[in-house]
Amino acid sequence: MSILENITSSKDAIALEDKHGAHNYHPLPVVLSKGEGVYVWDVEGKKYYDFLSAYSAVNQGHCHPKIVNAMTEQAKTLTLTSRAFYNDMLGKYEKYATETFHFDKLLPMNTGAEAVETALKICRKWAYEEKGIVENNAEIVVCENNFHGRTTTIISFSNDPVARKNFGPYTDGFIKIEYDNLSALEEVLKSNTNVAGFLVEPIQGEAGVYVPSEGYLSGTKALCEKYNVLFIADEVQTGIARTGKMIAVNYEEVKPDILI
Ligand SMILES: Cc1ncc(COP(=O)(O)O)c(C=O)c1O
Repeated sequence: MSILENITSSKDAIALEDKHGAHNYHPLPVVLSKGEGVYVWDVEGKKYYDFLSAYSAVNQGHCHPKIVNAMTEQAKTLTLTSRAFYNDMLGKYEKYATETFHFDKLLPMNTGAEAVETALKICRKWAYEEKGIVENNAEIVVCENNFHGRTTTIISFSNDPVARKNFGPYTDGFIKIEYDNLSALEEVLKSNTNVAGFLVEPIQGEAGVYVPSEGYLSGTKALCEKYNVLFIADEVQTGIARTGKMIAVNYEEVKPDILI
């Protein structure tokens, strides 16, 4: 098949990916070729509701005309600036986003995993420079059955064999506790003064969509305050109205120290 030819059958598209692509993912056998708002269509023209919305990357819907227009105009104006220079858009975006989410500052990232990695680095730096933990001793508490991405550090604190097997040696400095268990967190915080942060998904996504008990988010945040530990909410999957509120921690009026 020539690469200029249009793909008209799901079978052909799947065979092509199977032959030429790395087998790092196992998608459902649906080949999408078009989207509009909440709908997507496969190459045979069958219409679906897109409830997955690219794991929340297209919560705004497919091909929104305002967004398409802004992207097209920018692509025609200036392709890319490195951070070696300022540009006339970044500050506007930063102001808008920080005011929308009520945070002091933001750092845009390309992927969720990079955002998680950056949050872990900020947390460790804070621990050494502000909290006074001896360098290289900081620990970060995470939850069992978490999913925070696929970098080597992040899979180090996963308990999913698919994410971990044959990718060791793993990164140190993480303590795993049961999700939705307030006393498990207090137990660790009480007995370990090297804890710098608590990293949590307000609703666990990949684990199977686990909504914690009422009071878990506000309770864990209060414990973090009590023990001077950063509360880090990973809202890569729950953020920007996916759960009905702008961010899921809003359900319990919790303000994370770091919002991913
Ligand atoms: C809660 C959570 N954090 C982080 C990630 C990683 O995001 P990315 O795939 O953009 O690296 C995901 C991906 O699904 C996620 O669900």
